[in-house]
Amino acid sequence: MENEIEFKNVCKSFYSLKGETHVLQNMNFTIKKGEIVAIVGPSGCGKSTLLNLISGLIKPDQGTIQISKKVGYMFQKDNLLEWRTVYKNITLGPEIKKIKVDNKHIDTLLEKYGLSEFKFHYPKELSGGMRQRVALLRTLVLDPDILLLDEPFSSLDYQTKITVQDDIYKIIKETQKTTILVTHDITEAIAMANRVLVLTKRPSTIKAVFDIQLDLKEEKTPFLARNSAKFKDYFNLIWEALDIHE
Ligand SMILES: Nc1ncnc2c1ncn2[C@@H]1O[C@H](COP(=O)(O)OP(=O)(O)OP(=O)(O)O)[C@@H](O)[C@H]1O
Ligand SMILES: [Mg+2]
Repeated sequence: MENEIEFKNVCKSFYSLKGETHVLQNMNFTIKKGEIVAIVGPSGCGKSTLLNLISGLIKPDQGTIQISKKVGYMFQKDNLLEWRTVYKNITLGPEIKKIKVDNKHIDTLLEKYGLSEFKFHYPKELSGGMRQRVALLRTLVLDPDILLLDEPFSSLDYQTKITVQDDIYKIIKETQKTTILVTHDITEAIAMANRVLVLTKRPSTIKAVFDIQLDLKEEKTPFLARNSAKFKDYFNLIWEALDIHE
């Protein structure tokens, strides 16, 4: 299978009057088409920076990054435009790119995510979870090949989170999108991903990689994944690799 993302010896620092923040140190990894890779690591270690590099928003100081396909990015903060309705937020990307939108498709997505009633509402009228769903739809509507999700479910309540995880997983699988999911939730990483990268604290590099194979009898969904006997073993391994006392 072809590599869609390749990092070779990537280093990144930020500079300010207070000095240098050395964020990423020698990051090396490849991601193939259709993979779902979860990234976990201590707060502030550079996970969002990694997605910013993949999206091309920022450039590495050293090393090379190769990306072979179109990238869609759902930011950690939802960045909804307060003066545009839900519908106008979702169609922002196509509008900028001067692509015609399929309104029927958008209505189906709105329906699916329980947002139909709010199509012409403004972001300030939405709950945190609804805002996050709008941000996700805005990313999906451009049909990217590579999906970058920065803590996409973090402001959802527990039950909504479990159902939205299943929905998104289904979309990702059906459309064979390559996905990088940044999360603080170890169970979410195991339930969604086929590979989990654990990062060290700053300057961050890859500390451990886990290939997730859950031996499920039925076809995998994030919900069913939690029933696998191996789930708890992966949880313990990743917990240990994260080593909060380090
Ligand atoms: N544009 C920037 N300018 C200066 N420093 C930055 C910039 N972006 C990130 N940093 C610094 O780089 C480090 C990594 O930030 P980043 O947001 O990538 O961490 P993170 O792993 O996503 O954290 P969290 O888990 O809290 O979301 C932090 O110390 C942050 O202050
Ligand atoms: Mg972050």
